[in-house]
Amino acid sequence: MSGQSNKGTAVVTGASSGIGAVYADRLAGQGYDLVLVARRADRLEELAEKLRYAYGHKVGVISADLADDNDVRRVEQAIAADDSVTLLVNNAGLGGAPLVATADADVAERMIKVNVIALTRLTRAVLPGLIARNRGAIVNIASVLAFDTSFGGIYSGTKAYVVNFTEALQREVAGTDVTVQVVLPGATRTDFWEAAGSDINNVPQEIVMSADDLVDAALVGLARGEAVTAPGLADAAKLDAFLGARQGFFGSLHANKPAARYAA
Ligand SMILES: NC(=O)c1ccc[n+]([C@@H]2O[C@H](COP(=O)([O-])OP(=O)(O)OC[C@H]3O[C@@H](n4cnc5c(N)ncnc54)[C@H](OP(=O)(O)O)[C@@H]3O)[C@@H](O)[C@H]2O)c1
Repeated sequence: MSGQSNKGTAVVTGASSGIGAVYADRLAGQGYDLVLVARRADRLEELAEKLRYAYGHKVGVISADLADDNDVRRVEQAIAADDSVTLLVNNAGLGGAPLVATADADVAERMIKVNVIALTRLTRAVLPGLIARNRGAIVNIASVLAFDTSFGGIYSGTKAYVVNFTEALQREVAGTDVTVQVVLPGATRTDFWEAAGSDINNVPQEIVMSADDLVDAALVGLARGEAVTAPGLADAAKLDAFLGARQGFFGSLHANKPAARYAA
């Protein structure tokens, strides 16, 4: 077992499969100690053992259901108390495209709890320590569906929250050495699709990325200090144009009288 890493500790939620498991591998490879969070303890332990053996860093495991209030608080307490934490990857999430009228309300609530509430609470847990130590990063995994509602309002709504929340966080840490990144995966080949009741083989394969490629690109973006990383976007100028247009639109929404077209 090695001593404490110079890189500090990376907390990765949803590390038991898919994108989170790749983050765990890459971050261990970069020299981080790890804390891996998800429900499936057996898969976390298996991955932890593999990474300890491969990279020689400390890898801790917290089995927790991030839709469960008590479990989320347990994770918060553990990571807030750990001064070695330098990176939080809020990756755990679940999808699905139910119509609101027919959705199972409890399933919808679980999605919101994991994708939104847990992400918010875990960020709140580590942010003061990162700012106090003036070091580290938070990576929030959103989705391209933050900008598209054709696969249902609940998932899209959760990911739009992640984007706005992260942008506001970036303003909060401006002037410190803490960085905050939001990642926008498109269709990525993981268990996510099956868990959401879909089949990724029905998606045109030319737009499906591997989790390895997605995470490697996102980590390049993080190393460059990118605020918004969209690995599938070929033309980066489109992102700047979109964000600029949105800011300009916001600026034109204010007036002391309704617009002329609303005259009775
Ligand atoms: N795959 C895509 O096409 C795609 C596209 C855009 C965005 N994303 C986002 O990428 C992130 C990772 O997804 P993925 O594609 O890697 O899917 P995945 O392979 O299904 O992984 C999801 C991870 O989240 C964890 N998780 C789910 N519910 C949880 C809960 N209640 N408590 C704790 N952990 C929970 C799962 O662990 P346990 O089951 O062990 O708890 C698993 O480790 C998600 O936020 C997703 O929204 C994915």
